[in-house]
Amino acid sequence: MRFGYFDDDHREYVITRPDTPLPWINYLGSQTYFGIISNTGGGYSFYRDARLRRISRYRYNNVPFDYGGRYIYIRDNRAGCFWSPTWQPVRGTLDAYTCRHGMGYTVISGTRNGITAWIRYFVPLDETLEIWQLTVTNGRAETADLSLFSFIEFCLWDAWDDATNYQRNFNTGEVEVEDDVIYHKTEYRERRNHFAYFACSEPLQGFDTQREDFLGPYRGLDNPLVVERGRSANSITTGWVPIGSHHVQISLEPGESRQVIFVLGYHENPKDQKFDPPDSQRINKQTVKPIIARYLDPAQANAAFDRLHTYWDEILGVLQVETPDPDTNRMVNVWNAYQCMVTFNMSRSASFFESGIGRGLGFRDSNQDLLGFVHQAPQRARERILDLAATQLQNGGAYHQYQPLTKRGNDAVGSGFNDDPQWLILGVAAYLKETGDWSILDEPVPYENEPGTEQPLYEHLQRSHRYTLERLGPHGLPLIGRADWNDCLNLNIFSEEPGESFQTAPLKMDGTVAESIFIAGLFSLASKELAAIAEARGLAGEAARYRQAAAQMETTVWQHGWDGDWFLRAYDAFGHKIGSHTCQEGQIFIEPQGICILAGMGVDDGRARQALDAVHDRLATEHGILLQQPAYSRYYVHLGEISSYPPGFKENASIFCHTNPWIMIAETMIGRGDRAFDYYKRINPSARESISELHRCEPYVYAQTIAGRDTPRHGEAKNSWLTGTAAWNYVAITQWILGIRPTYQGLEIAPVIPSTWPGFRAVRKFRGVTYRIEVRRQGPGNTVSLKLNGVPIHGHIVPLPSEGTREVTVEVTVE
Ligand code: BGC
Ligand code: NOJ
Repeated sequence: MRFGYFDDDHREYVITRPDTPLPWINYLGSQTYFGIISNTGGGYSFYRDARLRRISRYRYNNVPFDYGGRYIYIRDNRAGCFWSPTWQPVRGTLDAYTCRHGMGYTVISGTRNGITAWIRYFVPLDETLEIWQLTVTNGRAETADLSLFSFIEFCLWDAWDDATNYQRNFNTGEVEVEDDVIYHKTEYRERRNHFAYFACSEPLQGFDTQREDFLGPYRGLDNPLVVERGRSANSITTGWVPIGSHHVQISLEPGESRQVIFVLGYHENPKDQKFDPPDSQRINKQTVKPIIARYLDPAQANAAFDRLHTYWDEILGVLQVETPDPDTNRMVNVWNAYQCMVTFNMSRSASFFESGIGRGLGFRDSNQDLLGFVHQAPQRARERILDLAATQLQNGGAYHQYQPLTKRGNDAVGSGFNDDPQWLILGVAAYLKETGDWSILDEPVPYENEPGTEQPLYEHLQRSHRYTLERLGPHGLPLIGRADWNDCLNLNIFSEEPGESFQTAPLKMDGTVAESIFIAGLFSLASKELAAIAEARGLAGEAARYRQAAAQMETTVWQHGWDGDWFLRAYDAFGHKIGSHTCQEGQIFIEPQGICILAGMGVDDGRARQALDAVHDRLATEHGILLQQPAYSRYYVHLGEISSYPPGFKENASIFCHTNPWIMIAETMIGRGDRAFDYYKRINPSARESISELHRCEPYVYAQTIAGRDTPRHGEAKNSWLTGTAAWNYVAITQWILGIRPTYQGLEIAPVIPSTWPGFRAVRKFRGVTYRIEVRRQGPGNTVSLKLNGVPIHGHIVPLPSEGTREVTVEVTVE
């Protein structure tokens, strides 16, 4: 069953009924001011950091779901009734409803009794504000006398404190209302120099800033007293709960439309110019007023929207494909690329499933996000790499997370996830291949954000490499530490405390025994990348040492990490195998099969094929590939969080989508394009659209997990949007199945496509040159030959064209 459809031409997903199985959300904002918005107007906004600078309030895990948002109430003043055109929060009957989620904007429109309201929400580029463009149209045969009430509930900045510290918070709330603009200025009197504002383009009939006065006692957002009676209270909050609500009264002739613009924004003043007059307590509004005035003007708002559109044209224009498969086309051309930008911006901080107060930016997460993002905005990728590297520890380890506002490592989570440092190498390699900007390696970058400790970025990579070599266990495999990619394989924790976080619990074992075959694979892969980087820097000896380290690790894996038919997962703190046919549960894990093969292990000698056949036979389901089997049926203290989940969920044998593309890539590496693409389709959200009632999450973005076959909810997705699945699937389909990958020498084109495809077309912009690529299948295999501008060339890599070349054509024959 579907709840909407893709409008490919407009790059929108159109939701046609408001009661989707879960809130289906979108993101507003591209640089510093962000928000999430659901198909019924729910969600919140923040500046830079979803925890520390929350602008509006949202109630996670409320009933009903998705409570708090950017709401408009429409009141028919003659009939005395009211509704929400976004359906929530009133949830009355609408005669028509659509929500169009697009690239950085959402348009919701709702009709009732002939009155149509159309609201476009977006954040202009380079601004710290959002615009709600509302157009109300009277489709009735008689004049309509309407009241419009806006509503936003302000958050007192630190979302964690806001949700817990009421003894203080019910006293601090402060606002100002000046020239019909509502200013939220809680804590501005003391150490903050930022405030929020909420403005409206029309003269007001009234306003409210105190929640209790707006709602009335014991009423919810579905039935505010002010809206019911059609008159604002003109309340000024002191303490309690600050909100912003405008009341606009309009009269519309039959067929008449009226546009009303609301602007919600964030603004900072210089610390010494906070007040006006200087010795008063009133906000200095001189710098913000012109900004407000600009965007309340419909022409300016439209122009800002057009700029946003152009921005996305350019970003998506870096790679466009035309394959025989519509699900592939729309994911590659639009939605998967878009999700890569969102994961880059958000890491794992703010979604419907991530509350924005739990996690900042993850070290391993953000490095992987770069893989799918780097071509979209290389300059931003560069900055992110330097920020991430600055949280690295002197010993090469890494803070597992950092807060985007402060850019400092998060002490609460700490470090000791032993895979972390390797991902930095992969992130940097991806950046270098895309841009050829070798200067980044010479950038001085501190350790642990400590001024004075700066070393060139290249040295950070060297330390990443050494970190693993200095932490090998009894079999010569990398020690796992707190965990590796699988945050829930906690082999040194032995937690017995109810509720204790596996991410922060003290290690009970000294960590000198438990080893990870996953890190072994990752280390080999990263060492080969580092060798190529060293070579390009003219460090042949060093490059040889990295290659030697990768080879040595591979030998160790064959000795101690191969179970006979597939790669083992780990050794536990007693030196026992995990992920072996000799185990009762957890006999085979997906991660090492993927990553060891990505590192090249077994590709030439049949063992990769053997491992991938085992994956196919034991882990593949119609909804995707499971993380491990058999699922753990009870809690094992020596395994940790992985066994805390009921079978079939999350790390305990769900389809953990992030890992599936590793298998797709591995399949292409042994030439099995049909199988790679089959796996790709199983989790492609667009291809799952017709089973939305089962899948439940948005059909336009990947979710972190799809419930595994050990649960009756098999096929149900969770944790949509913020997942490494976005970047890795993008890499799998574009770089390995379609086979278009940046290399140091030029653009490589080596497709491993399904046998039934006659070919495909692509346009790729790479280092300032547009490549028009036409792939034709002329035989059943994967042998590729290239013609550049009609002339045959040797190998798979199109050498970088000479200076000044803007465009080339590449004909690719696959046989
Ligand atoms: C989840 C993991 C996540 C970790 C980090 C665990 O509860 O299962 O997927 O990576 O928390 O917060
Ligand atoms: C989600 C985390 O963000 C990611 O870092 C981790 O690798 C996976 N969960 C698997 O545990």
